[in-house]
Amino acid sequence: MADTAQPGPIGGHGHDGETRRDFLAIAATAIAGVGTACATWPLISSMNPAQDTLAAGAPIDIDISGVQPGQQIIVLWRSRPIFVVRRTPDQVKALAADKDAASLRDPTSAANQQAAYAKNVYRSVKPDVLVLVGICTHLGCIPEFVPQPGGSLGASWQGGYFCPCHGSRYDLSGRVFQNVPAPYNLPVPPYHFVSDTVIRVGENPPDSTFDFNSIEQI
Ligand code: FES
Repeated sequence: MADTAQPGPIGGHGHDGETRRDFLAIAATAIAGVGTACATWPLISSMNPAQDTLAAGAPIDIDISGVQPGQQIIVLWRSRPIFVVRRTPDQVKALAADKDAASLRDPTSAANQQAAYAKNVYRSVKPDVLVLVGICTHLGCIPEFVPQPGGSLGASWQGGYFCPCHGSRYDLSGRVFQNVPAPYNLPVPPYHFVSDTVIRVGENPPDSTFDFNSIEQI
């Protein structure tokens, strides 16, 4: 089910001899491994486009009707993992309060990492449904979904993403924290709802001309 094709060329920066390309190669391998974690993070295929069609970047439709509040699923688009999370009412409420804003590098999503329709505290079209490209903006590892507050990430942790490669942290909107190596928020791909329960990733709503290739960093 997993597409292990390597992501295409992207911008990047070196770090101790490591490059984003090196890490994306690791990320591609990790994507293959994600399938073994289906019990906790289901990796679902899109609604059936052929692999070559997917690799070419065709839009994919994702049925989220079975995604429970608090759960994340991972699909592939353009050979990259797409995180889709159904937020709980408490998670939506916590983001609305935005207590972490002062600790975030780009709390208002000023950098071009998303379309205008995702430039809000939720970084999403609907507050309860999050859609992100699941690639750390540091060197390209796949961040872990850690939605539970507290725990090993500290008492102030409200849930979000932790990248184990070099310790970058993102909140539950994919906004990066300060004092971590990742420079940008996680990208939001172009997407829109074609019905209450189906998201089309890879295609903007009719009133948007957002160009995913124009973003700062994948
Ligand atoms: S790749 Fe370095 S922190 Fe994520």
